[in-house]
This record gives sequence, C-alpha cells and structure tokens, in this order.
Amino acid sequence: MTRARVCVIFVLASIATAQAASPGDAVRVEEAARVFELNSQSVTYAFGVNERGELQSVHWGGRLANSDVLPLVKAEKRHASFDLSTTTPQEYPGWGAGLFVEPALKVSFPDGNRDLVLHYDSYRVEGKRLLVQLKDLSRDVRVQLGYEVDPETGIVARSARIENHTGKDLVVVQAAAATWTLPAATDYVLYSLSGRWGAETNLDHRPVVPGQTVLESRRGSTGHQNNPWFALSHGEAAEEAGPVWFGELAWSGSWRITVEQDDKHRVRITGGYNPFDFSYRLAPGAALETPVFYAGYTAGGLGEASRLMHRFQLAHILPQAPQPRPRPVLYNSWEATQFNVNEAGQVRLAQMAAKIGVERFVVDDGWFGARDNDKAGLGDWTVNRRKFPNGLQPLIDKVHALGMDFGLWVEPEMVNPDSDLYRRHPDWVLNFPGRPRTEARNQLVLNLARQDVRDYVFHALDQLLTQNDIAFLKWDYNRNWSEPGWPEQKIQDQQKVYVDYVENLYWIMRRLRERHPKLEIESCSGGGGRVDLGIMSLTDEVWPSDNTDPFDRLSIQDGFTHAYTPAVMMAWVTDSPNWVNHRSTSLEYRFLSSMQGSLGIGADLTRWNAQDFETAARLVAEYKTIRTTVQQGRLFRLLSPRGGSQYSVTESVSADGQQAVLFAFLHSSSMLYPYPRIQLRGLEPEGRYRLRAIAGKLEEGSLEEASGAYWMSRGIDLQLAGDFQAAALVFERVASAK
Ligand code: GLA
Repeated sequence: MTRARVCVIFVLASIATAQAASPGDAVRVEEAARVFELNSQSVTYAFGVNERGELQSVHWGGRLANSDVLPLVKAEKRHASFDLSTTTPQEYPGWGAGLFVEPALKVSFPDGNRDLVLHYDSYRVEGKRLLVQLKDLSRDVRVQLGYEVDPETGIVARSARIENHTGKDLVVVQAAAATWTLPAATDYVLYSLSGRWGAETNLDHRPVVPGQTVLESRRGSTGHQNNPWFALSHGEAAEEAGPVWFGELAWSGSWRITVEQDDKHRVRITGGYNPFDFSYRLAPGAALETPVFYAGYTAGGLGEASRLMHRFQLAHILPQAPQPRPRPVLYNSWEATQFNVNEAGQVRLAQMAAKIGVERFVVDDGWFGARDNDKAGLGDWTVNRRKFPNGLQPLIDKVHALGMDFGLWVEPEMVNPDSDLYRRHPDWVLNFPGRPRTEARNQLVLNLARQDVRDYVFHALDQLLTQNDIAFLKWDYNRNWSEPGWPEQKIQDQQKVYVDYVENLYWIMRRLRERHPKLEIESCSGGGGRVDLGIMSLTDEVWPSDNTDPFDRLSIQDGFTHAYTPAVMMAWVTDSPNWVNHRSTSLEYRFLSSMQGSLGIGADLTRWNAQDFETAARLVAEYKTIRTTVQQGRLFRLLSPRGGSQYSVTESVSADGQQAVLFAFLHSSSMLYPYPRIQLRGLEPEGRYRLRAIAGKLEEGSLEEASGAYWMSRGIDLQLAGDFQAAALVFERVASAK
C-alpha cells in the first residue's frame, strides 16, 4: 500500500551545523499516519500509534531514506488466546490488560485497581524535544514521553514524566525511563559490564535467549557489580563492524535494566528505577520524572558504539560540555600517606610533585575531624588542627606557589558513629528504628533525602570551598546501603528515599558548582562504584578502580572505555610492588598504562630516586603533548587484553586527525613469538605521518615516516620481549603524500 507522505518536519536549531544527510528532519511527524521519526545522519528511530491507540515501536537502526513511507502501524495479531496485550511491542507499556512482558509503568490506585492501559493522546515539539503524551483509557493518569535525538551521533535520549490528575493518590511501584525494542532474531548477544571492588568494568557477553536477563543495583547507588550500560549485537560483535545497539541509564541510585526476549523473539530493553523495594506515592497533581535513558545504534561494531558514546559524553553530558578542558595531571596523596597527612609531609610531596610537572595536588583522606584511621571523623568537615595548625590555606598557598592548583578528598554522604555529627544527630542516618544499623568500613549512610541533612552537607562543603581556595573535590562514597529506612517520613512515602536521596545529591553538586564555578569534581566510590551518566553530568572525572596495578588496569580500562570516555578515566601511577596484588612492574610500564586515560600520580615520591624523577618528568612532559588526543580523540581498541591475551593495543586519533597515539602492551612473552604486527586505523590514507617513540623499540629498519595507508595496511613491528613490557608511539601528520 502506498500513501502520499504528508508530514510535519521540525527544523531544529542545531541541525544547521550537523552533517545530517538531509538537514531539518531530526524530528518528523506523519500526522495522518500518526508516525514519529527521529533522524540523524545514519540512524532512524521510529514509532507510531496503532489502531488500538497504543504507541508502538516501528524501527530503530540504520537511517531510512527520505522517500520511504512507513506503513500504517498495526497492533499485532494475537495467535492464541494466551497472547493478550503482550504481543505488541509498545514504546512504554503500562501494566494492564494482560501484559506479560516487563512493564515500563506499574501503578496502584487507592481503590485497589491496578490496571493501567496507556493510549496515545497528543504530541508537541518543544525546542529539540518531541513530547508524546499517553493517557490511561479511563483514569486521568498521564505519561509524557520525552524524546530527543542528537543529530551528530544518533543517540536518542528518552525519559518519562508520570502525572497524577486523578484527584486522588496513586502509587507508582515501577517506573522505567524507556522501553527499547529490537526486531525478532534468534542470534542476539548481550554485552554488559560487571565486577566488584578492585575489579570493575569487566566486559561480559552472553547469548540472549527467551526470558529475562536483569542488570541492576539494589544498593542505593550505581554499584561496582553491574554498570547501567548495555550493548546488543547479532552474534558476537566485531570490534569494528556490524550492527550494535547500545545504551546507558543516567541514574546514580538503585537501577534496573531488563533485557527480555519475548515469545516472538523480539528483544525489549526496559530501564529505570529499580522496582525492588520501590514505591513512590503521587499526590493529586504531583508528577514523577524518570532519569534519562540514552541509547544509540551503529553499523560499526563495538568500537564505533564506544566512540559515539565518548563523543556524546564530551559534547552533551560532562559539566564542561561541549568543550571540556583536558584533565590536568594530578598528584594524590592516598597511597603515599594514607591517613597520616600533615602540613609538612604534604608540602614535601607537593614540592616533589611539582618537579615532575604535576598540575594539581590533591590531599586525600585524613585531613579533617578526628580522622586518624577509618574508625572516626566522617561527618566532621572541619580541618584537623593537630595536622594543619593554621588550617589548609598555608598548604594551599604553597601548592599555588609551586604552580599547581589544590584538591581535597571528601566523603560527604557518610558518617562514622564515632563523630561529633553522629553524636549530635544519630537520627540522620538511614535506619529502621529498633533494628541494628549495619556498619561497613565503620560508617553509616546519611539520609540525604532529608532536607536538613541535605542542607547540612551543602553548607559544610560550601563553607569549605568558600574559606579555602579549592579547585577540585574528590567526592568519595565508600559503602552501600543497608536498612534503608526513613522513619521521620510518612509511612507511605518512606520508599521515596531511593529517588529523593539521589535527587538531593545532584542538587548539592549542582548548587556547589553554581556557587563555585571553577570547582571540578571527581566521582569516586571505593573506585568505580558510582560511574554513570547521571553523576557524570555533574562531575568532571571518575575514579575507575582502587586497583592501581597497571596490568589489571589494562582490562578495567578496556571495559571502561566501552561505555565511558577516556577523558574522565583517571589512572594513577603508583608504587611497585602494587599494594593490591604485589605485582612488580617498571615505572615506565606503570606510566604507559596510566597514560591511556587521564594521568595521575599516586606514588610515595619520597621513595623515588633521581632516575625515577627523570623518567617521570620526561613521561609527564610527553603526556602533555598527547593528552588531548588520548582523552578526547577517537579510540580504537586494536588488540584486547581480555580472555588471557598476551597483548593489548589501543590507538587514539585526535579530532582534527593531526595526531595518533598508540599504546602497546606485552603481558608475557612465550615461545619466542614476535609481537603481532600492528595495523593502525582512522588515519588519512593519503596523509603522511612521522613516527616518534615515547617508549619501546621498533624492529630494525622500520620507517620513520610513511603514509596513513602504509601505517594502516602494512603496519608496524615492535620489539617487545619479556613480561609486562610496553611501548608508546606518536604519529604526527606532516604533509600530504605527493
Ligand atoms: C576510597 C578511595 C581511595 C581513598 C580512600 C580514602 O577507598 O577509593 O582512593 O580515597 O577511600 O579513605
């Protein structure tokens, strides 16, 4: 059937600069057919209203041609009396009318009714967003679905606003930001990131089979165990080819992403608040706005999926987007001094750090309250006068005089029972009255959902930042929730803690940044326990793991970059043998591993010899010449460290194509095999590039200058032998080939 295409096209301001194939069609609405399309240069996301009034997925994948006229959207035929409303791939299914797949929204009304059937009501376009309103078929519950496509990357941002206009309370017991649907296929493979403390972001994959796979955190925060990221491919994904659908949920509280293959082999990905132990009462007129679920599609494999996400995060998520300043090289005192910080010791470290080119000096735990170990002091954010008799400012002044800015560790959401704060306010922690308060690392979690707690934390930090010239906070969070009670709240509202806590955390960070515009923040949670797009919109960098062993880091970093940009991936050079696993490695190897991300130094500099300082100063200086490329360029994971591989290689190409940086690691030599030849990617074939080695040796007779085509087709041979060896090469573009 053909229909004339009558459609309304919304020209978005941003399109003019985008390279969309056909500018002006980022949001296209075919009003007669009630079909909505979101387009970027290479992706189309389409959905429409079927004859029953349900909003239904139509297409998510490669860009359709402008001449394509999508067929009328039809609800699926039931094949059996057992199918009910499950069969239609709804955009945002309410739990009702016999829905057996994962609902996006489940509510309960005060009269006992729990049936919710959402039908299309209306749409409007506000700025760059398409807003589609759904309504229950009889009760005035409205859901406004928000859609926005990024014309550069094709990444779609989806969220939902649930409004109660029934005139009575209603309770939301499950609310997703979005449900994404992929067409029926039997060969889908799901990629996810899992881990634990000290071993974050392992890339896992498993075939998708009928039923559900649940990725989640029930911990009150994002968690080390699963990260709210997914990718799906047909069969095992190739690094640089083939269709990949990928997404990330922007939420730092308990979350859930359910990947479900239904009985027709379609895959539905539903993500939002974790419904476990969840309920959120909406008074008449009240609304609940879900977090944003971002997702994209590429035909270019996992590698291109990552690069799109990296680009999107740099341009749209990070606080300094669209042009975040490259991360300064920092020094952090934690592994050197632990809790034994004092003015003289920190000044000594600062002097040494300045000698090797460090740009930011960070004092870690131990500077406040009665904090001599992890048993006391959390909550008392005043400077310990025994360790810093004149406050922090004399140290800060010295750090400035040495040409660095100053950063400080805080863990504002926590309290030790042995603290003045807890003695004053034992009711301020998450707790169930009369039940034990389970401690972890001798600490309890402050209930940030309470306004008085939120205000205390905000004022303590605001004061600290007002009284001291602090450029950077390392914001830590060293345990997960237990007994998540909020006894002062009305019983029916106590489970709002899962939402209100996180919203208040974001509120504090946002207000601090507004009041202290130069402030930068790192999100740390005993390593990578709170890395997600929600916190990343308020923090400039993250700490991927407390595991600072440079070899283990190669895998952690490999997994990390599947979801997040190396621009935020902090990596410190620390001491050898490493404190986590006692592995010994050379200083150069440790540097090269850390230089894959945003370089920091966390070693005890008082134990370094002259040679170490020389090596460090040289490599820090080299890093400064490549950091924009490494942090913000296009990353190619040429050889993965996963699966017991002997080798791993990454390459980054600068946004302007003028520079490429390659890191190659030999984990362990065996049987005299040579290092595999490395073929680069992403260079201009006709361009000429001169090669410079920062570390490592090339095979004798290797060219020093050649075309992009040569480096990409013929490649380079490295001389690496032994265990834990590494090389770093820089390719600078010189002139075009004749
Ligand atoms: C956590 C962090 C570490 C360090 C300590 C301080 O474990 O991840 O980097 O800051 O806390 O107590």
